[in-house]
Amino acid sequence: MPETLAICPGSFDPPTLGHLDIIRRGLRLFDRVIVAVTINVRKKPLFTVEERIEMLRVCFDGDPRVDFDSLEGLLASYARQRGAQAILRGLRAPSDFEYELQMSQMNRHLVPDLETVFLSTEPVGSYVSSSLVKEVASLGGDVGALVPPHVNAALRARYAAP
Ligand code: PNS
Repeated sequence: MPETLAICPGSFDPPTLGHLDIIRRGLRLFDRVIVAVTINVRKKPLFTVEERIEMLRVCFDGDPRVDFDSLEGLLASYARQRGAQAILRGLRAPSDFEYELQMSQMNRHLVPDLETVFLSTEPVGSYVSSSLVKEVASLGGDVGALVPPHVNAALRARYAAP
């Protein structure tokens, strides 16, 4: 049987426990997952792509089924080039669905046999997003239960008073 591969794309700025849950559960469905961290020149990220990849890598502690890459340009072309069957995304709330549906349809328009697989997040993580985590952390709020410990430490260091 050929190996199954999914691409899990995102900004991951920073990775949250919700992201990790989706990647871990994706590994039950696919033999391998490539986590693709987007380089978006229009967004000004808090962490560099290299920092975000390193934060993700630590979470999977050498698991050979997970690979990490940066992504510049079209996700559909990247997925085709890597030979992936699917894009893996998490759905937190109904409000995510409209945007995600559009993206999945556009990606299938670009690469017709590329499927998008949506996993629903744990209800407890439904309010967690990287942008809210950053906002709360920047204002001194505790996000320790929402991100891995090393990400929490990186946020604290980034927002520590100079
Ligand atoms: O974590 P995010 O920021 O919500 O992820 C959005 C992402 C990375 C999935 C989306 O912006 C994307 O696919 N970017 C790559 C560029 C691309 O292919 N754009 C067209 C999407 S149909």
